Amino acid sequence: MKLYLAPIQGFTNSTFREIIVRNNGNVDKVFSPFVDAKRYRKEGEKVMKDIVRSVGKQQQLIPQVLGSTPSEIVAVLDRFKELGFEEANINMGCPFPPVANKQMGSGLIPFPEKIDEILAAALQVGIRISVKIRLGWINNDEIEAVIPILNKYDLEEVIIHPRNGKQQYKGEVDLESFGKIAPTLKAKVCYSGDITSLEGFESLKSKFPFVDSWMIGRAAISNPLIFKSIEENSNRSRKEIAAAIKQTHNELYAEFSETLSGQSHLMHKIKPYWDYFEAIFQPELRQMVKKAVKAGTANNYQAAVNDLFAKALREFE
Ligand SMILES: Cc1cc2nc3c(=O)[nH]c(=O)nc-3n(C[C@H](O)[C@H](O)[C@H](O)COP(=O)(O)O)c2cc1C
Repeated sequence: MKLYLAPIQGFTNSTFREIIVRNNGNVDKVFSPFVDAKRYRKEGEKVMKDIVRSVGKQQQLIPQVLGSTPSEIVAVLDRFKELGFEEANINMGCPFPPVANKQMGSGLIPFPEKIDEILAAALQVGIRISVKIRLGWINNDEIEAVIPILNKYDLEEVIIHPRNGKQQYKGEVDLESFGKIAPTLKAKVCYSGDITSLEGFESLKSKFPFVDSWMIGRAAISNPLIFKSIEENSNRSRKEIAAAIKQTHNELYAEFSETLSGQSHLMHKIKPYWDYFEAIFQPELRQMVKKAVKAGTANNYQAAVNDLFAKALREFE
């Protein structure tokens, strides 16, 4: 059984990925959020910063590219190769309308012939290639026409998030469609979507014995010890999870304080993590979380967060 950290743009940066690997020991692969190939063409190395920071430090890192034409995608893959990566992932799942409307991410799925051209070119780069894909852009059966194309190539693996692009990250994952189409892939299959607990993981694992690896995203922010729980088959206490969140938060905060200029940038970058951190503090510390998220200055924010962590670590078992 292999476990992967999912790419989450804006959250799973190099610092976060390092914390997860350190906390959990055996995470088999960690994926970078996508490098936008069109931006790379215009802005160059600036968009590679997060990946470059991990070079030589994160053996398990698989960098990801998002694009719509073979040439722009290959330019990024060539750069990954130059940086020493032997494997990369192509994003065919991003649901955001400005992306998908331009035949990128999940917007590629209704165009199997485009996917064919992209993969033909990508496989020439000379590194292992995997694909991360949804069931479709608008409908869950769109992937059916893509499968013969994916099966033409020697892909490292295919990671499936069983939603369509229109759903974004909401609504149910379509396990029935996943169970139907995943075994028809020639490549190894990785499952990604809504694994939030040890119990949920166990249930998916028994449903889909053919799955080779399991990817966890949002739940790794809510519980930075989730991989360990799964590996060791034992849930962590609330106190341990709160302590891991405190450590994760403090390392991210220190990094953002150093690298960003101005309080508003810092607040803008750290506060979204609370969408995920907050779960463990519910319901009794809800007001304290609210106070932190509403804080207007970095000083007030820090004071509120410190109070919250102190109370949680005092009172949680
Ligand atoms: C805010 C956000 C950003 C994401 N960014 C990426 C990304 O850059 N590349 C990618 O392949 N998937 C991205 N995803 C999708 C996740 O990798 C994952 O497939 C999805 O969230 C389902 O898994 P989860 O329920 O374990 O989070 C993103 C998801 C969210 C919520």
